[in-house]
Amino acid sequence: MDKLLNEIKSTAEKVRYELDRLLPVPKTSEKRVVEAMRYSVMGGGKSLRPFMVMQSAKLFGVEPERALRVACALEMVHCYSLIHDDLPAMDNDDLRRGKPTCHKQYDEATAILAGDALLTRAFGVISSEKCQFDPLTRCQLIYELSKAAGCNGMVGGQMLDILAETTEDMKLPEVVRLQQLKTGALFSFAMEAGAIMGKADSETRQLLRSYAKDVGLAFQISDDILDVEGDVASMGKAVRKDLDAHKATFISLLGLEKAKEQAKQLTEHAVKTLESFDEKADYLRALARYFVERKS
Ligand code: IPE
Ligand code: IPE
Ligand code: MG
Ligand code: MG
Ligand code: MG
Repeated sequence: MDKLLNEIKSTAEKVRYELDRLLPVPKTSEKRVVEAMRYSVMGGGKSLRPFMVMQSAKLFGVEPERALRVACALEMVHCYSLIHDDLPAMDNDDLRRGKPTCHKQYDEATAILAGDALLTRAFGVISSEKCQFDPLTRCQLIYELSKAAGCNGMVGGQMLDILAETTEDMKLPEVVRLQQLKTGALFSFAMEAGAIMGKADSETRQLLRSYAKDVGLAFQISDDILDVEGDVASMGKAVRKDLDAHKATFISLLGLEKAKEQAKQLTEHAVKTLESFDEKADYLRALARYFVERKS
């Protein structure tokens, strides 16, 4: 586990270094929005999605410098989603990664713009030649990221999540779908990105998507569990929000014990999906297990 955490940390440092280069602060007055973008994107997240991009790229021998750009673009999209998720109109949170949320540190308008600009910059980064020489590969990356981030992906999931607060009697399949969109879609992109860059066949792409689907759900179940069992200090964000909002989650529907059992089963299934890969997939196997054991 320590080996995995060290490797994740090392990827996070590379991502931070690259993000610093990709988001230079202009000298002009609009620099405020860039500062807010940098505040959020370099603000000490776990960098799990970039790690998944780098590990899936490794399976296919993709040059790490190129994969790193895709990893950074995905982290930008993820951080934009968190900035907007924390806004008063959404989850209304004051704390993120142990620091004031973007709208608390700056102001609401700046936070909205910083989110918008991170999303846009992400597509700028992956459409650049410096990311991938081959235009078709670039187009595939752009296409898949747009699907994962938009109304059939993360944004769609966020919509369902908001509706979940007021929907009576939500059933498990609906919660599964919500989580798959909200969290799973960006995870799927992370895993598929390596296969796209490595020009893997569609069967292999499907395998990686299936791994992502399982670990994405397991990850979100553990986010819901930590919302109940975690503490603010180690999470760096508010807890017991879902309970207070009477939100339908895996915990409210299954209870804590069954939810934990479900997360474990998903993890084992994800590991099984990687059977055909050699030791290059070991970190991905360890990552799946870490998702259900994590405490932050
Ligand atoms: C938080 O994601 C949002 C969810 C999908 C639950 P992470 O737990 O990966 O957040 P950071 O990037 O490490 O802060
Ligand atoms: C947010 O889910 C997931 C996103 C798509 C941003 P949550 O609202 O559960 O994430 P946290 O708990 O605030 O990190
Ligand atoms: Mg939310
Ligand atoms: Mg939230
Ligand atoms: Mg949560």
